[in-house]
Amino acid sequence: MAITTQQLIQLKQQGRAIVALTAWDCAIAHILDAAGVDLILVGDSMAAILGYKNTLPITLEEMLHHAKAVRRGVKRALVVVDLPFLTYQESVQQAIYSAGRVLKETGAQAVKLEGGYPAMVETVTRLVQAGIPVMGHVGLTPQSVHQLGLRQQGKTEETAEKILNEAISLEQAGVFAIVLEHIPADLAMQITQKLSIPTIGIGAGSHCDGQVLVTSDVLGLSEKQPPFAKVYTNLRETITQAVKDYATEVRERKFPEY
Ligand code: KIV
Repeated sequence: MAITTQQLIQLKQQGRAIVALTAWDCAIAHILDAAGVDLILVGDSMAAILGYKNTLPITLEEMLHHAKAVRRGVKRALVVVDLPFLTYQESVQQAIYSAGRVLKETGAQAVKLEGGYPAMVETVTRLVQAGIPVMGHVGLTPQSVHQLGLRQQGKTEETAEKILNEAISLEQAGVFAIVLEHIPADLAMQITQKLSIPTIGIGAGSHCDGQVLVTSDVLGLSEKQPPFAKVYTNLRETITQAVKDYATEVRERKFPEY
Protein backbone atom coordinates (compact mmCIF):
# COMPACT_ATOMS: atom_id res chain seq x y z
CA MET A 1 0.00 0.00 0.00
CA ALA A 2 1.30 3.44 -0.93
CA ILE A 3 2.29 5.76 1.92
CA THR A 4 0.07 8.84 2.32
CA THR A 5 0.84 12.29 3.66
CA GLN A 6 -1.40 11.46 6.65
CA GLN A 7 0.69 8.37 7.40
CA LEU A 8 3.86 10.50 7.47
CA ILE A 9 2.22 12.69 10.12
CA GLN A 10 1.31 9.53 12.06
CA LEU A 11 4.96 8.41 11.91
CA LYS A 12 5.88 11.62 13.74
CA GLN A 13 3.16 10.99 16.34
CA GLN A 14 4.50 7.45 16.84
CA GLY A 15 8.08 8.74 17.14
CA ARG A 16 9.19 6.68 14.12
CA ALA A 17 11.92 8.29 12.01
CA ILE A 18 11.01 9.02 8.37
CA VAL A 19 13.50 7.87 5.72
CA ALA A 20 13.70 10.01 2.59
CA LEU A 21 16.05 10.03 -0.41
CA THR A 22 16.07 11.64 -3.85
CA ALA A 23 15.58 9.80 -7.15
CA TRP A 24 15.71 11.06 -10.72
CA ASP A 25 15.03 7.89 -12.71
CA CYS A 26 12.95 4.72 -12.64
CA ALA A 27 15.79 2.26 -11.89
CA ILE A 28 17.07 4.07 -8.78
CA ALA A 29 13.52 4.84 -7.62
CA HIS A 30 12.69 1.13 -7.87
CA ILE A 31 15.72 0.18 -5.74
CA LEU A 32 14.95 2.83 -3.08
CA ASP A 33 11.30 1.83 -2.93
CA ALA A 34 12.07 -1.88 -2.64
CA ALA A 35 14.59 -1.06 0.12
CA GLY A 36 11.79 0.53 2.17
CA VAL A 37 12.39 4.28 1.78
CA ASP A 38 9.26 6.15 2.97
CA LEU A 39 9.49 9.28 0.82
CA ILE A 40 11.16 9.69 -2.57
CA LEU A 41 11.89 13.25 -3.60
CA VAL A 42 12.35 14.09 -7.26
CA GLY A 43 14.57 16.97 -6.20
CA ASP A 44 15.79 19.77 -8.41
CA SER A 45 19.25 18.76 -7.15
CA MET A 46 18.87 16.74 -10.37
CA ALA A 47 20.63 19.81 -11.83
CA ALA A 48 23.87 17.94 -11.08
CA ILE A 49 23.14 15.03 -13.44
CA LEU A 50 21.91 17.40 -16.14
CA GLY A 51 25.23 19.26 -16.01
CA TYR A 52 23.85 22.53 -14.58
CA LYS A 53 25.92 24.54 -12.05
CA ASN A 54 22.93 25.06 -9.73
CA THR A 55 19.18 24.37 -9.63
CA LEU A 56 18.09 27.60 -11.35
CA PRO A 57 18.07 26.46 -15.02
CA ILE A 58 15.86 23.38 -14.44
CA THR A 59 12.54 23.59 -16.26
CA LEU A 60 9.12 22.24 -15.39
CA GLU A 61 9.29 20.01 -18.50
CA GLU A 62 12.54 18.44 -17.22
CA MET A 63 11.03 17.82 -13.79
CA LEU A 64 7.90 16.29 -15.35
CA HIS A 65 9.97 13.99 -17.57
CA HIS A 66 12.05 12.65 -14.66
CA ALA A 67 9.14 12.53 -12.20
CA LYS A 68 7.18 10.30 -14.60
CA ALA A 69 10.15 7.92 -14.76
CA VAL A 70 10.47 7.87 -10.95
CA ARG A 71 6.76 7.28 -10.47
CA ARG A 72 6.91 4.25 -12.78
CA GLY A 73 9.47 2.67 -10.44
CA VAL A 74 7.61 3.22 -7.15
CA LYS A 75 4.90 1.13 -5.48
CA ARG A 76 5.02 2.13 -1.81
CA ALA A 77 6.90 5.37 -1.11
CA LEU A 78 5.29 8.79 -1.21
CA VAL A 79 6.63 10.59 -4.31
CA VAL A 80 7.19 14.35 -3.92
CA VAL A 81 8.36 16.55 -6.80
CA ASP A 82 10.24 19.86 -6.51
CA LEU A 83 8.68 22.79 -8.32
CA PRO A 84 11.59 24.40 -10.15
CA PHE A 85 12.72 28.02 -9.85
CA LEU A 86 10.23 30.53 -11.30
CA THR A 87 7.47 28.01 -11.88
CA TYR A 88 5.62 29.06 -8.70
CA GLN A 89 7.04 32.36 -7.38
CA GLU A 90 5.37 34.62 -9.92
CA SER A 91 1.74 34.18 -8.82
CA VAL A 92 -0.68 31.81 -7.11
CA GLN A 93 -2.10 30.98 -10.56
CA GLN A 94 1.35 30.03 -11.85
CA ALA A 95 1.92 27.79 -8.80
CA ILE A 96 -1.46 26.05 -9.19
CA TYR A 97 -0.78 25.49 -12.91
CA SER A 98 2.72 24.03 -12.27
CA ALA A 99 1.75 21.90 -9.28
CA GLY A 100 -1.40 20.75 -11.08
CA ARG A 101 0.66 19.57 -14.04
CA VAL A 102 2.96 17.63 -11.69
CA LEU A 103 0.04 15.78 -10.09
CA LYS A 104 -1.95 15.24 -13.31
CA GLU A 105 0.91 14.21 -15.59
CA THR A 106 3.31 12.29 -13.34
CA GLY A 107 1.12 10.53 -10.78
CA ALA A 108 3.28 11.94 -7.95
CA GLN A 109 1.33 12.64 -4.75
CA ALA A 110 2.81 16.01 -3.70
CA VAL A 111 5.00 18.97 -4.61
CA LYS A 112 7.73 20.75 -2.66
CA LEU A 113 8.49 24.43 -2.87
CA GLU A 114 11.08 26.65 -1.21
CA GLY A 115 10.63 29.60 1.15
CA GLY A 116 8.30 30.71 3.91
CA TYR A 117 7.92 34.43 3.24
CA PRO A 118 4.34 35.84 3.32
CA ALA A 119 3.63 35.56 -0.43
CA MET A 120 4.79 31.93 -0.41
CA VAL A 121 2.58 31.17 2.59
CA GLU A 122 -0.38 32.58 0.63
CA THR A 123 0.58 30.38 -2.35
CA VAL A 124 0.77 27.28 -0.13
CA THR A 125 -2.65 28.08 1.36
CA ARG A 126 -4.18 28.26 -2.11
CA LEU A 127 -2.45 25.09 -3.35
CA VAL A 128 -3.70 23.17 -0.32
CA GLN A 129 -7.21 24.58 -0.82
CA ALA A 130 -7.01 23.29 -4.41
CA GLY A 131 -6.32 19.79 -3.05
CA ILE A 132 -2.60 19.74 -3.78
CA PRO A 133 -0.40 18.33 -0.96
CA VAL A 134 2.60 20.59 -0.37
CA MET A 135 5.90 20.02 1.43
CA GLY A 136 7.72 23.15 2.63
CA HIS A 137 11.47 23.83 2.57
CA VAL A 138 13.21 26.44 4.77
CA GLY A 139 16.73 27.23 5.97
CA LEU A 140 19.17 26.92 3.10
CA THR A 141 17.01 27.16 -0.02
CA PRO A 142 19.21 26.39 -3.04
CA GLN A 143 16.97 28.30 -5.47
CA SER A 144 18.10 31.47 -3.59
CA VAL A 145 21.78 30.62 -4.12
CA HIS A 146 22.57 34.11 -5.42
CA GLN A 147 21.18 35.66 -2.22
CA LEU A 148 22.16 33.09 0.43
CA GLY A 149 25.05 31.16 -1.10
CA LEU A 150 25.20 27.56 0.11
CA ARG A 151 26.09 28.51 3.70
CA GLN A 152 24.42 27.31 6.88
CA GLN A 153 21.40 29.50 7.71
CA GLY A 154 19.87 30.56 11.03
CA LYS A 155 23.10 31.12 12.92
CA THR A 156 22.09 34.45 14.44
CA GLU A 157 19.19 34.94 16.84
CA GLU A 158 17.40 37.08 14.26
CA THR A 159 17.73 34.63 11.34
CA ALA A 160 16.89 31.66 13.58
CA GLU A 161 13.68 33.38 14.66
CA LYS A 162 12.84 34.15 11.02
CA ILE A 163 13.23 30.48 10.03
CA LEU A 164 11.17 29.32 13.03
CA ASN A 165 8.39 31.76 12.13
CA GLU A 166 8.46 30.68 8.48
CA ALA A 167 8.09 27.03 9.53
CA ILE A 168 5.13 27.89 11.80
CA SER A 169 3.44 29.93 9.05
CA LEU A 170 3.90 27.11 6.53
CA GLU A 171 2.35 24.61 8.96
CA GLN A 172 -0.61 26.97 9.45
CA ALA A 173 -0.91 27.24 5.64
CA GLY A 174 -1.30 23.45 5.46
CA VAL A 175 2.03 21.85 4.45
CA PHE A 176 2.11 18.15 5.43
CA ALA A 177 5.87 18.16 6.13
CA ILE A 178 8.79 20.54 5.93
CA VAL A 179 12.43 20.17 4.87
CA LEU A 180 14.91 21.91 7.17
CA GLU A 181 18.15 22.34 5.22
CA HIS A 182 21.55 23.25 6.68
CA ILE A 183 20.50 24.96 9.91
CA PRO A 184 21.89 24.51 13.44
CA ALA A 185 20.73 21.31 15.18
CA ASP A 186 19.27 23.19 18.18
CA LEU A 187 17.13 25.36 15.88
CA ALA A 188 15.93 22.23 14.00
CA MET A 189 15.08 20.64 17.37
CA GLN A 190 13.10 23.71 18.44
CA ILE A 191 11.14 23.72 15.14
CA THR A 192 10.54 19.96 15.37
CA GLN A 193 9.13 20.30 18.91
CA LYS A 194 6.95 23.26 17.95
CA LEU A 195 5.33 21.72 14.84
CA SER A 196 2.77 18.90 14.63
CA ILE A 197 3.83 18.04 11.08
CA PRO A 198 7.08 16.14 10.45
CA THR A 199 10.38 17.93 9.87
CA ILE A 200 12.74 16.26 7.40
CA GLY A 201 16.31 17.35 8.02
CA ILE A 202 19.28 17.64 5.69
CA GLY A 203 22.28 19.04 7.49
CA ALA A 204 20.01 19.93 10.42
CA GLY A 205 21.04 17.42 13.09
CA SER A 206 19.50 14.29 14.51
CA HIS A 207 16.43 15.77 16.23
CA CYS A 208 14.31 16.11 13.07
CA ASP A 209 11.43 13.67 12.52
CA GLY A 210 13.16 12.29 9.44
CA GLN A 211 16.22 12.65 7.27
CA VAL A 212 16.72 13.20 3.56
CA LEU A 213 19.92 13.03 1.53
CA VAL A 214 20.70 13.31 -2.16
CA THR A 215 21.12 9.71 -3.34
CA SER A 216 24.11 10.44 -5.57
CA ASP A 217 25.91 11.78 -2.44
CA VAL A 218 25.00 8.68 -0.42
CA LEU A 219 26.28 6.43 -3.21
CA GLY A 220 29.51 8.38 -3.73
CA LEU A 221 28.57 9.33 -7.28
CA SER A 222 28.70 13.11 -6.85
CA GLU A 223 31.92 14.91 -7.72
CA LYS A 224 31.62 16.95 -4.51
CA GLN A 225 29.33 16.35 -1.52
CA PRO A 226 28.01 19.01 0.88
CA PRO A 227 29.69 18.93 4.32
CA PHE A 228 26.65 17.30 6.00
CA ALA A 229 26.26 14.40 3.55
CA LYS A 230 27.40 10.89 4.42
CA VAL A 231 28.89 8.70 1.71
CA TYR A 232 27.80 5.10 2.39
CA THR A 233 29.53 3.54 -0.63
CA ASN A 234 31.88 4.76 -3.34
CA LEU A 235 30.18 3.90 -6.64
CA ARG A 236 32.35 6.42 -8.52
CA GLU A 237 35.37 4.24 -7.75
CA THR A 238 33.47 0.99 -8.41
CA ILE A 239 32.20 2.23 -11.78
CA THR A 240 35.60 3.63 -12.81
CA GLN A 241 37.24 0.28 -12.03
CA ALA A 242 34.55 -1.70 -13.89
CA VAL A 243 34.88 0.55 -16.97
CA LYS A 244 38.70 0.25 -16.90
CA ASP A 245 38.47 -3.56 -16.61
CA TYR A 246 36.05 -3.69 -19.54
CA ALA A 247 38.25 -1.40 -21.66
CA THR A 248 41.33 -3.52 -20.94
CA GLU A 249 39.54 -6.74 -21.85
CA VAL A 250 38.19 -5.25 -25.10
CA ARG A 251 41.62 -3.88 -26.07
CA GLU A 252 43.33 -7.16 -25.22
CA ARG A 253 40.59 -9.06 -27.09
CA LYS A 254 39.71 -11.01 -23.94
CA PHE A 255 36.06 -9.95 -24.12
CA PRO A 256 33.97 -11.55 -25.50
CA GLU A 257 35.47 -14.94 -24.81
CA TYR A 258 34.33 -16.62 -28.02
O1 KIV B 1 16.55 19.09 -4.55
C1 KIV B 1 16.76 18.36 -3.58
O2 KIV B 1 17.32 17.26 -3.69
C2 KIV B 1 16.31 18.84 -2.28
C3 KIV B 1 16.87 18.13 -1.08
C4 KIV B 1 18.26 18.60 -0.87
C5 KIV B 1 16.02 18.32 0.11
O3 KIV B 1 15.58 19.75 -2.17
